[in-house]
Amino acid sequence: MADELKRGLEGVLVAESDLSYVDGEVGKLVYRGYDIEDLARGASYEEVLYLLWHGSLPTAAELDAFAADLAAEREVDDDVIETVRALADAGERPMAALRTATSMLSAYDPDDDESGDDGEATLRQGRRITAKIPTILAAFERVRQGEEPVAPDPDLSHAGNFLYMLTGTEPDAVSEETFDMALTLHADHGLNASTFTAMVIGSTMADVYSGVTGGIGALSGPLHGGANQDVMEVLHEIDASSKDPVQWVKDTRDGGGRIPGFGHRVYKVKDPRAVILEEKLRDLAESSGDTKWLDYTTAIEEYLTDQGLVEKGIAPNVDFYSGSVYDTLGIPVDMYTPIFAMSRAGGWIAHVAEYQEDNRLIRPRARYTGPEDAEFVPIDER
Ligand SMILES: CC(C)(COP(=O)(O)OP(=O)(O)OC[C@H]1O[C@@H](n2cnc3c(N)ncnc32)[C@H](O)[C@@H]1OP(=O)(O)O)[C@@H](O)C(=O)NCCC(=O)NCCS
Repeated sequence: MADELKRGLEGVLVAESDLSYVDGEVGKLVYRGYDIEDLARGASYEEVLYLLWHGSLPTAAELDAFAADLAAEREVDDDVIETVRALADAGERPMAALRTATSMLSAYDPDDDESGDDGEATLRQGRRITAKIPTILAAFERVRQGEEPVAPDPDLSHAGNFLYMLTGTEPDAVSEETFDMALTLHADHGLNASTFTAMVIGSTMADVYSGVTGGIGALSGPLHGGANQDVMEVLHEIDASSKDPVQWVKDTRDGGGRIPGFGHRVYKVKDPRAVILEEKLRDLAESSGDTKWLDYTTAIEEYLTDQGLVEKGIAPNVDFYSGSVYDTLGIPVDMYTPIFAMSRAGGWIAHVAEYQEDNRLIRPRARYTGPEDAEFVPIDER
């Protein structure tokens, strides 16, 4: 039915894609056919990027070359660092700073493809964006803490290097592995709002910088990427007020509020990424001996399960556990969504490149509900 209105485009098919598949009824996520659990446990983020961008898992030699090419692109121009400093000084929010700085990167890109019709150039530009986002984010965080940025180390992994640039210290193996896993879990997720935004931009044959910049903007909203931050803020609030987490949930629901980290447009059962991160949080809690966040999140999930919310399809999503994992890794709360962007950039780039290969301008329409035949009155007669 051509005229059926689908608010929020829910369930509307707009494209074909080989990249990722989400089965929200059973809680399954695959990237190019591979189960997210196998990838999170067995593959590095670099391997996952290769898979998404080039269509198959790399051999060891292919991965080495790919990872080295990516690592070689980590440095950003001094002008970008100066802009990052100015944004930090102005008190800009991290996602907005990332949006601005990512957009600026195109000025220093050696490829002069501005149209998006050269798929190879799109992937080269995408590689530079993906390599440089962690450098921008770590520099922003350090500058606003009154510290100097740390130069990237090409010998470290994508995940390890970010933690190193953020803290100035090489991460231990558990932290690096956990963070790498979190990057893999967030790399792609079908046509979520930010990916669709990047695709819409790509469908005009704009360059991939525009697509990624738009994706960052879409991801910044509280209904999308902002939720992991909301979860952690709630956990900190509960902790600071010594409130019982279950009481907080009761009060919030009585007041008509939503519980951040619960519910998802696609998943009607527990998000498979939440299952893996919960396990990781358990590992981190056990190794550090600090079980506070694990206790709070478990209590909230158990209560909402007892209340029948989970059965109604409002189950924990990836954000419910990622915040606690990042907090344990020492990452500041307002960097969670930027980290999400750092990972999801890989998916945005893959979708833009895939869509532009067989492009069709995305141009839906709205049902017009405004007045008809309004009589125009000149301004001096109104
Ligand atoms: C993600 C989200 C926007 C998806 O929403 P949606 O598919 O549009 O679902 P709706 O907003 O139509 O909500 C459906 C019902 O579930 C309830 N609901 C949804 N999420 C809820 C939550 N987190 N806590 C309590 N109730 C919730 C709504 O109040 C609504 O109830 P009603 O039918 O009685 O009015 C929504 O679940 C949400 O706001 N979650 C919290 C934010 C979040 O974690 N976002 C990250 C997603 S990865």
